Amino acid sequence: MSSEFSIDKLKATLEKYHQSHVLRYWGDLDNEERKRLIDQLDDIDFNLVLYLASLLKNTKKSEPLKMSPAPVIDLPETKEEKAAFENARTLGEEVIRAGRVGAFLVAGGQGSRLGFDGPKGCYPIGPVSGKSLFQMHAEKILSAQRRCKTVIPWYIMTSETNDGDTRRFFERYHYFGLKSSDVMFFKQRMVPALNEDGQMILDRKDHIFTSPNGHGGSLQAMMESGAIANMKERGIDVISYFQVDNVLIQILDPLFIGFHVQANAEMSSKMLRKRGPYEKLGHFGLVNGQLQVVEYSDMQEADMQARNQDGRLKYGAGSPAIHLIQPDFIVQEMEGGIQLPYHVARKKIPYLNQAGKQMIPDRPNGYKFEMFVFDALRDTRNSVILEAVREHEFSPVKNKTGQDSPETARRDLSNYFGEWLEAAGIEVPRDKSGNVRGVVEIGPLFADCQEAFVKKISQDVTFDGSFYLDG
Ligand code: UTP
Repeated sequence: MSSEFSIDKLKATLEKYHQSHVLRYWGDLDNEERKRLIDQLDDIDFNLVLYLASLLKNTKKSEPLKMSPAPVIDLPETKEEKAAFENARTLGEEVIRAGRVGAFLVAGGQGSRLGFDGPKGCYPIGPVSGKSLFQMHAEKILSAQRRCKTVIPWYIMTSETNDGDTRRFFERYHYFGLKSSDVMFFKQRMVPALNEDGQMILDRKDHIFTSPNGHGGSLQAMMESGAIANMKERGIDVISYFQVDNVLIQILDPLFIGFHVQANAEMSSKMLRKRGPYEKLGHFGLVNGQLQVVEYSDMQEADMQARNQDGRLKYGAGSPAIHLIQPDFIVQEMEGGIQLPYHVARKKIPYLNQAGKQMIPDRPNGYKFEMFVFDALRDTRNSVILEAVREHEFSPVKNKTGQDSPETARRDLSNYFGEWLEAAGIEVPRDKSGNVRGVVEIGPLFADCQEAFVKKISQDVTFDGSFYLDG
């Protein structure tokens, strides 16, 4: 609370923005609670709230977009393509060795579908080791640092809801072997949720419900926190963006980095071949000639179904949310305070009933607002989209059970490392669906790629249903 605080001024501001109801319980609050509420109100950008409320009035369903397929670098088939891949890989290795790459993790989300008590990155996921997602990511970075004899700073975006727990987790585990001075945490901004009438929602008498402003909030957060300035000081010109829940992420992929740098791309993306027309991944497409990730709900039905002559889906390029970004592009995006668009989602928001008691609704009762990082692709002049093999690069932990759950992530890890064993001539039994019968895990500090594993593993090893090797 600033020393010049005046309740009358606050009331006038709230009235101007149609939010006076947030002081409904003012008379019930003690000094500390009042301070808490005032401090929170101090941080809220009321012009943004007004703008978000205006989005709710626009109920017109948007027309499906007219699009054309985006150009993609497919997996190599010809000799020339394979040579181009080798060139890109060599260049990428050089860029990593030169210390030009920083890792950037977005970990500010709420992980509501998983329903884990704590930041999602603390979730134990190693199929044998039980290592957390954070540890798995950290060890990939550490092993790349050792292999390339360089420093790869790690920038981690958290949010108000999980920042303290995330930092404590890293401290408790001594940053998993990384130097703490090379790991930088910063928080993204929160935005208030709104009800149907565009009003903010109290979830306590002294607190307004807010949620993180989406992974697209990372551009602003990187600028405001000094992360971009830190990158500049360190000579970083490639940011490797990844999400906390992808257990198969290749954080420092020389191939991808090589293609990105070669093309002088401002922002690049990996892409996966969609499993079918209705798989819920965003699609890379050109809209009015400009690259975009188009959500499946914004596509025309005919486009969803359309196939090329070879039988592949015409719009089969799905986004696994893996990007490379130039720091200068972020500076340019943020110049003049340009913001990515906000997406609106109807959600269940805790609220206070007539008696002032917190209630959790059964049905959505309000709206949350998020920016998506891939919307920045629209502003790129140069961008590379590189095909990735799903089984090697993408298996997210989103839900408690079923598809994209801890169970499927552990299965996918075992299948992935099972291939390494097979490449080394070790027999691995598989079931009818091709899944490894048993569990396999290889820590990045033992080997960080199949080639390195095959070189290192001794010939007389066998698989007895559970296999684990670590640094
Ligand atoms: P998701 O869209 O899967 O959201 O985030 P979530 O919050 O993890 O999970 P649900 O939807 O509540 O179940 C994809 C990635 O983007 C990050 C997440 O931490 C995750 O790495 N993210 C998401 C942020 O960093 N900030 C946000 O505001 C939203």
